[in-house]
Amino acid sequence: MHEVTDTSSSIPPSAHDPLPKVWDENARIGEMLKGRRGLIIGVANEHSIAFGCAAKLRGFGAEVALTYLNEKAKPYVQPLAERIQADVLLPLDVCEPGGVQAVFESLRERWGYLDFIVHSIAFAPKHDLHGRIVDCSREGFLQAMQISCHSFIEVAHHAQSLMRPGGALVTMSYYGADKVVQNYNMMGPVKAALESTVRYLAADLGESRVRVYAVSPGPLKTRAASGIDHFDELVRMALERTPERRLVDIAEVGRVVAFLVGGGASGMTGDVIYVDAGLHHMA
Ligand SMILES: NC(=O)c1ccc[n+]([C@@H]2O[C@H](COP(=O)([O-])OP(=O)(O)OC[C@H]3O[C@@H](n4cnc5c(N)ncnc54)[C@H](O)[C@@H]3O)[C@@H](O)[C@H]2O)c1
Repeated sequence: MHEVTDTSSSIPPSAHDPLPKVWDENARIGEMLKGRRGLIIGVANEHSIAFGCAAKLRGFGAEVALTYLNEKAKPYVQPLAERIQADVLLPLDVCEPGGVQAVFESLRERWGYLDFIVHSIAFAPKHDLHGRIVDCSREGFLQAMQISCHSFIEVAHHAQSLMRPGGALVTMSYYGADKVVQNYNMMGPVKAALESTVRYLAADLGESRVRVYAVSPGPLKTRAASGIDHFDELVRMALERTPERRLVDIAEVGRVVAFLVGGGASGMTGDVIYVDAGLHHMA
């Protein structure tokens, strides 16, 4: 098994480190995921967790399709897709009626099958996200639920007929699903619904031999995270409390996702897997 060199692994990342090197043009493409094809939703820029996943999955030999939110986002995502030699790049706004279906129709035409999907998107309107949950609006809550949770169900629905046995679906959750994390507010119940959805989808899709997971990363400085009030405080707490006093990086999340979609995780489904350097174990 060959992996793309991750030159960041010997340096413990801190909140001030530059980006981890998730992709090395000169490294040999590995073979662990050779012949597997998958869709990755949620690359906005090179800080995105979805980009860490895309780069690592490509590095292990998978063929990947990426999506971008809209024409404004395309100039940021396209060069990243080119950098990792993604096979397909498609637009996807999950709020657009028929948007998810159109992506799967394109993939059916182009590839005919899928082995994995990484769903790494979330949204909450700032006004509701920054307020107490007791004050959040119906519209704001429904929008956050649609984009951050129901879209995973919609993706699973359209993926069903394309997924080969042994395939896997992965979404991104957060510790705030399970415990009250200050300033995570309305996203807590939304992520709780997402984690429950993972268990029910695992039960539904098991008969087709498709596995379903949530990965729960520790705090990472991304665009979505910048929407959370006092996010720096969450980063500082993680740096103080993790056993190794460090943050995780997107390459580490990507490597766990590669394990989950590969054969190594065939005995697991419906799980929430923490990639938070042990933070959730600390009182
Ligand atoms: N950054 C963290 O600390 C952290 C920790 C745990 C979990 N997560 C989760 O990881 C996932 C990815 O977030 P990230 O931190 O990489 O930030 P990010 O901003 O890089 O990614 C969020 C993505 O959601 C996409 N998105 C938003 N609305 C959409 C829509 N209507 N249709 C399609 N795509 C849409 C954006 O285009 C973007 O690509 C989210 O589910 C987030 O909750 C993040």
